[in-house]
Amino acid sequence: MLHNASIIGTGSYTPDKILTNDYFESIVETSDDWITSRTGIKRRHVVENGMATSEMSEYASQIALEQAGIKASDIGMILIGTVTPDRPLPSAAAMLQDRIGAVNAGISDVAAACAGFIYGLGMARALVCVGQMEHVLVVGAETLTSITNYKDRNTCVLFGDGAGAAIVSRRNSGGRILSTSLMGDGRQWQELYIPKGGSATPLINGDLGNGNTCISMNGSEVYKHAVRGMVASSEQALAEANLKAEDVNLFIPHQANIRIMDAVAKRLKIPDDCIIKNIEEYGNTSSASVPIGLAEAGRDGRIKPGDVVLLSAFGAGFCWGSAVVQY
Ligand code: ACO
Repeated sequence: MLHNASIIGTGSYTPDKILTNDYFESIVETSDDWITSRTGIKRRHVVENGMATSEMSEYASQIALEQAGIKASDIGMILIGTVTPDRPLPSAAAMLQDRIGAVNAGISDVAAACAGFIYGLGMARALVCVGQMEHVLVVGAETLTSITNYKDRNTCVLFGDGAGAAIVSRRNSGGRILSTSLMGDGRQWQELYIPKGGSATPLINGDLGNGNTCISMNGSEVYKHAVRGMVASSEQALAEANLKAEDVNLFIPHQANIRIMDAVAKRLKIPDDCIIKNIEEYGNTSSASVPIGLAEAGRDGRIKPGDVVLLSAFGAGFCWGSAVVQY
């Protein structure tokens, strides 16, 4: 490696409109008690008035740029982890480039579902370390409400919208990315997928409005694999950084389910007061959940100089990953 790669700025954005558990009681057969006890979710922030992924990404990125003290034109590459770009074509990264005027950047989306931000972080780190880029903007942003079936109680109570951003840079400040571990198992794709709308299953008359273009999930299978996967990639990332789980000061897991986070932390032996949990407020925002947690932890003073921060996420594919960052 020729250079170090550090996170020198972070930002996040969540829409103002909130859906509470009471709302879901009014549209499907569920209860606040079930949702809270099975998932930890109380509220989710959701878009309105035509807001989409690139607009949320813009607001999160502007905060990250300001914190990093660089201009949009300094960015060499924009990577957005998302499965909900504004349109099928072009990428959300293209739309974001236009919005913020990052005229010197390459642009690409990273389709790694909930692990999209961690995958983007791994790619950004590689680009910076080999000297190809000085600054890479990595975003995790998702408008999950656009692919949620509000007639399916198994999934609709879980998801919210939001964006988080990080500037990965050659500069030696902020948090140095010590390691990233990126893993996948495509044999499990049918456990969490969207049935229609891709090249194998183009939309035909009657497909819209029946849930076929929305997330379909085998929740209990996803749950089991998520715990195993996040533990495995966290152990690999920590080993590569020559650290142990007891060295971790802050654990920022993907906010899919409070029981998944607790199970992963328990297996890694990370104490509860070292875990960032914001699922109660935002629900599962897929690729946005880890960078929202990271940005809020920085903003709230939960990350101190010297701290070792472990990030980890798991999502459709299956694909999953972890990163170790030292401040
Ligand atoms: N309200 C009331 N009952 C419900 C609801 C609901 N909203 N949803 C499901 N149930 C019922 C089920 O129908 C089932 O009833 P049955 O026993 O009569 O069939 C019962 O609750 C138990 O269902 P389980 O699936 O076994 O419940 P579980 O404890 O596994 O919790 C959950 C379900 C919350 C979905 C959990 O499995 C989970 O969090 N899975 C992982 C989700 C995840 O990590 N997703 C990440 C990826 S998302 C992405 O990539 C965008």
